[in-house]
Amino acid sequence: MTSTQRIELPDGVRTNGADPNPWWANSVVYQIYPRSFQDTNGDGIGDLKGITSRLDYLARLGVDVIWLSPVYKSPQDDNGYDIADYRQIDPMFGTMDDMDELLATAHRLGMKVVMDLVVNHTSDEHPWFQASRDANDPHADWYWWRPAKPGHEPGTPGAEPNHWGSYFGGSAWQYDAKRGEYYLHQFSKKQPDLNWENPEVRHAVYDMMNWWMDRGIDGFRMDVITLISKHLGPNGEMEDGEIGPEGYSNVYWFCEDGPRLDEFLQEMHREVFDGREGYLTVGEGTGIDGGPRDEFITDPRNRELDMLFVFTHLDIDHGEGGKWTPKPMRLTDLKRTMAAQQNAVASHGWASIFLDNHDQPRVVSRWGDTSTDELRVKSAKALALLAHLHRGTPYIYQGEELGMTNAGFTRLDQYRDLESINMYHQRVDEAKVESAEDMMAGLAAQSRDNARTPMQWDSTPYAGFTAADVPTQPWIEVNPNHTVINAEAEVADPDSVFAFYQRLIELRHTNPIVAAGDWKLLDPDDEQVYDFLRSLPEENPEERRSLLVIVNCGSTSAHIPHDAAELIHGAVDASRIVLSTTDPDMAAASLLLGKLSPWEGIVYQL
Ligand code: NOJ
Repeated sequence: MTSTQRIELPDGVRTNGADPNPWWANSVVYQIYPRSFQDTNGDGIGDLKGITSRLDYLARLGVDVIWLSPVYKSPQDDNGYDIADYRQIDPMFGTMDDMDELLATAHRLGMKVVMDLVVNHTSDEHPWFQASRDANDPHADWYWWRPAKPGHEPGTPGAEPNHWGSYFGGSAWQYDAKRGEYYLHQFSKKQPDLNWENPEVRHAVYDMMNWWMDRGIDGFRMDVITLISKHLGPNGEMEDGEIGPEGYSNVYWFCEDGPRLDEFLQEMHREVFDGREGYLTVGEGTGIDGGPRDEFITDPRNRELDMLFVFTHLDIDHGEGGKWTPKPMRLTDLKRTMAAQQNAVASHGWASIFLDNHDQPRVVSRWGDTSTDELRVKSAKALALLAHLHRGTPYIYQGEELGMTNAGFTRLDQYRDLESINMYHQRVDEAKVESAEDMMAGLAAQSRDNARTPMQWDSTPYAGFTAADVPTQPWIEVNPNHTVINAEAEVADPDSVFAFYQRLIELRHTNPIVAAGDWKLLDPDDEQVYDFLRSLPEENPEERRSLLVIVNCGSTSAHIPHDAAELIHGAVDASRIVLSTTDPDMAAASLLLGKLSPWEGIVYQL
């Protein structure tokens, strides 16, 4: 099933409230992290030609849209999320001709291409920022500049305007000797925040977005877009917060879901997307939970964004010290957070569904079971079934479709991610809030590098990511388990995780209940089995078509909980098994016995 065989959802099927239904309502998106996908020139870093060379693989998987993490010109302080020129491709990734070829090939294969849009901040090497360092330049007000704390010598310790800490360690303020002032950076000091209050900033961003849309891209994934409007006091004050154990206060309250966010997103819609068709916009919804704000921003009547990534379900295993002190996840927390996200957009708006991305550990290592290869495969399929049977647009992160696992790094020098490295030093060496052993364990569980090891194409020394005989090592170590977990083996195996993803995508394309049926959680208190009902209303309630989804999220067998058992009524017809992680006869037997095998997942038509 290729994406070109996706059905058009019939008029009677309701999606986000728009009429007609948007094309992306039964599409599946695949995220590519370019530096780790495919290297063709032997420099150990993935490139655009590499992506183009693998588009056949993605067409075979069946995805409809590719989202490219940033490939723009960048000093790569944060792997491209620090952009120095929005209209150029970084030479490390190739040329604009390579980009055009990628676009044309993807389109020919029936896939759309969405680019990452990083406009909460630029690189400090962007000409806008360089100009802004001069207080008399027309760009002076394009970033958030503030003088030193009164009574302090600018640039000396403690002279920062307040105690806000950056997410990537250290103060969120950086002193610039040329301007004699500090600039705000929520992320690294090479990622200064743009001042969206300034209309010139906004229009420069819209111009750039139009330029890319006119080149033929199909939309944007918008990086931390919900942080662009800041909460200022009546006289421009920036209020400090409580200082935490690492010596910093939280900058969150200042940036998340600010008072002008809707206005900015609506303006962006008018300036860039009005009059265009066939595109998709998805915002990284940092600070937005599954509630009314999610619905408002994604309600098509408000003309803001098509969907948001809401992260509440990925916070459930963060402990008291945040993500670096992880705790075991409870399935009831996953149900509660997912239910809130699903219910928020049940009548208007739309959800994106995801368990993995380039900032998250691999879900099979995080919530599955990788103690044996058999359990890895089972749990990868079960988690995939669980996610892909929700209502919304599913996103697959490269390698997730193979059941790729965490990196397994044990030494700090194996890490490349600036967040991981900076936070290690801040927490262990400077603030001494965590021991080296505990922090290494935290990194092993939660570091973003877990998702960034090279894509595992085959069993050759560098996993086919780069040629086996190149002199340059990949920029980050290849996971040694590529000899077992790799695309070549899985594409050839009808029982592989890859093959299972193909079937999930096919279901999304062809089954309107999967694409848009109502979602209802069953058995919210069961700690091992996640079950829910998907239904499409019919005029005659007797004809209501429903799918029961039951997933055992554990490595021991589990009883089918009460609500699901009631719906099955002890009568099971094997031909009604729509999809299962085991073979249909086994699944039917499990339903009949009322007992699921480890990591068994079943979709049953009622
Ligand atoms: C979110 C991105 O997904 C992440 O990778 C990046 O570091 C930050 N935003 C800053 O751009």
